[in-house]
Amino acid sequence: MEIIIQPTPAAATTIAARLVARLIREKPAAVLGLATGGTMEPLYRELVALKLDWSRLTTFNLDEYVGISPQHPQSYHHFMWEKLFGQVNISDQNVNLPDGLAQDVPATCEHYERKIFSAGGLDLQLLGIGTHGHIGFNEPTSSLASRTRIKTLTPQTRQDNARFFGSVEAVPHHVITMGIGTILESRHCLLLAFGKKKARAIAEAVEGPITAMNPASALQLHPKVTVFLDEEAAGELKLTDYYRWVYAQKPDWQKI
Ligand code: PGA
Repeated sequence: MEIIIQPTPAAATTIAARLVARLIREKPAAVLGLATGGTMEPLYRELVALKLDWSRLTTFNLDEYVGISPQHPQSYHHFMWEKLFGQVNISDQNVNLPDGLAQDVPATCEHYERKIFSAGGLDLQLLGIGTHGHIGFNEPTSSLASRTRIKTLTPQTRQDNARFFGSVEAVPHHVITMGIGTILESRHCLLLAFGKKKARAIAEAVEGPITAMNPASALQLHPKVTVFLDEEAAGELKLTDYYRWVYAQKPDWQKI
């Protein structure tokens, strides 16, 4: 894993945006795995401002709530169209999110997996992290080999996301999420985490043992992961001096 620690979330987000933009310029028909949540909003703002060509890109989002319509203001469909897709020249038939209203959930999940495979697999996957280490909505104890499927949210995640819904009662109980196995097959994972609340989950994921109790720790098995942190989210890591030194010593060809 490459750990990039920056003084502020904004500085880290700018570097992450540069990496995404570079892929889009170098591979105009790339397949992007996208994420939602507060951490992604500034990243999408930066990508929109860069005025990139999205016309040939294909996107797959990590997850969606079950039981709310795409028009619901808190659906991830709505989030993505508001924050990103509605502001770039993406073609709507190239946009994919799990169908939270699917009648046949296992079939829709299988179809999602097949579609990712047929598109050539994910070139890049954006990831946030939950306060207990989830990636996508793979909650603690998720199988590290899991594929797209239905999950039940933990009380902690419903509490964390209550700020978007107005109350914890309004947060759906179920979601459809890409699995950890799905995420591990993407060619490059970019994990962004900011603030003190994420510090424990990040320390466990980066420096702890690989365990389903912190699903993000499975990223240690992935050959290409870049983690973008601010000082607060890096606050419980042990090897911060080493990570800073590595970043400062990057050879020119590796610079972002
Ligand atoms: P956040 O969510 O960006 O809103 O903190 C991240 C996550 O739960 O994966």
